[in-house]
Amino acid sequence: MNQNIKGFSKLSKQEKIEWISNTYFSNPAKATETVKQYWNSNEDLQKLHDEFIENTLTNFYLPYGVAPNFVINGKNYTIPMAIEESSVVAAASKAAKFWEQRGGFKATVINTEKIGQVHFLFKGSFEKLQNFFSVIKPKFFSDTENFTKNMQKRGGGILDIELRDKTSDIENYFQLHATFNTKDSMGANFINTCLEQFAKTLENEAREYNNFNEEEKNIQVIMSILSNYVPNCIVRAEVSCPIDQLSDDPSIDSKEFAEKFVNAIKIAEIEPYRAVTHNKGIMNGIDAVIVATGNDFRAVAAGVHAYASRNGSYSSLSHAKIENDVFTFWIDIPLAIGTIGGLTTLHPLVKFSLEMLGKPSAEELMKIVAVTGLAQNFAAVRSLTTTGIQQGHMKMHIMNILNQHQATKEEKAKVLDYFKNNTISHSLVVDYLEQLRK
Ligand code: MEV
Repeated sequence: MNQNIKGFSKLSKQEKIEWISNTYFSNPAKATETVKQYWNSNEDLQKLHDEFIENTLTNFYLPYGVAPNFVINGKNYTIPMAIEESSVVAAASKAAKFWEQRGGFKATVINTEKIGQVHFLFKGSFEKLQNFFSVIKPKFFSDTENFTKNMQKRGGGILDIELRDKTSDIENYFQLHATFNTKDSMGANFINTCLEQFAKTLENEAREYNNFNEEEKNIQVIMSILSNYVPNCIVRAEVSCPIDQLSDDPSIDSKEFAEKFVNAIKIAEIEPYRAVTHNKGIMNGIDAVIVATGNDFRAVAAGVHAYASRNGSYSSLSHAKIENDVFTFWIDIPLAIGTIGGLTTLHPLVKFSLEMLGKPSAEELMKIVAVTGLAQNFAAVRSLTTTGIQQGHMKMHIMNILNQHQATKEEKAKVLDYFKNNTISHSLVVDYLEQLRK
């Protein structure tokens, strides 16, 4: 069967599924059935999802769970989490409960500035370009008035536009480096629309500028695009308590645990191999809320990891200290996210998440997301420095193993009971299940 096809996007959904099933599957009927069993019986809802992207065949489910008992700045939240990994929601819930009894989480938005750039080539001196830029700068603002009017009404807009000389890196390369406040929207469309207008204004004005020679008049815009690196769009989340309250387990000494915890964080600060896994744990919490609230998890991840390397070496996003017998644990994290626009009004479950969170502003959502990341990190580092991660992790994983092996309700109960007090591993669970079935 020919595996290349022309005009695939023009086929109906049914035809696309048929082509895929017939081209790639030994049992096309079964392949079609697999795809179709995930269709939603509500046709309008299915159409809505079909139209989010292109060449849609079906839906790809992620479990949607919630972590209750979060207290952030004195307010209670149940946090929605869309994630496929077992133990993450349980860990967040456990950490939420633990800190609820110790004053809850505190969170502060430090800054909300977003960035976009027009990258261009100019064959002339920086000085001449600077003079030109200072003459035409007001034009960038007036030419974008149509799009900025509404944003300004909401208290946002273009904050500033700078000209940057990048010729020491690439010959003739300069930038317009613009900063924005996009209030409750993530703002990607707003920023990109402004930038594309800046690029037009730049090229047009250069062509008309009498002090430029022919070569200088010919500015070449390479591209105009927002940056997902947002080191000035930062939220801080933190928890603290007297060190003697840090353990709720009589077998774990609070002071020893506090010191071990701080050392674990120090290791993640200086050792990139550990930092990546440490931050991955933080992202378990962050991504799950980002997905459940309809935000762009790729943008968040790219920005977060760039921020984690901002000092030249990949490092921990969270920090901990003990001062005057008080343990403090905190995270600073860049989050360019929104609670209006995008999927927020389109996806019924995103609307559901936002309503459950009390219809937060973007700044409030930044706090919620950062807190979830910190809670996740606390739970992971607590397990790692006390019982080890496998105990809790495998407990949650047992269910996946049992489902993979189509265990009955009775078998599940027996297996769970047996592994309450026995070491858990994938093969041990499977062996025990097979024994039961003999
Ligand atoms: C697993 O998804 C995340 C952890 O590896 C995070 C960590 O090591 O801190 C447990």
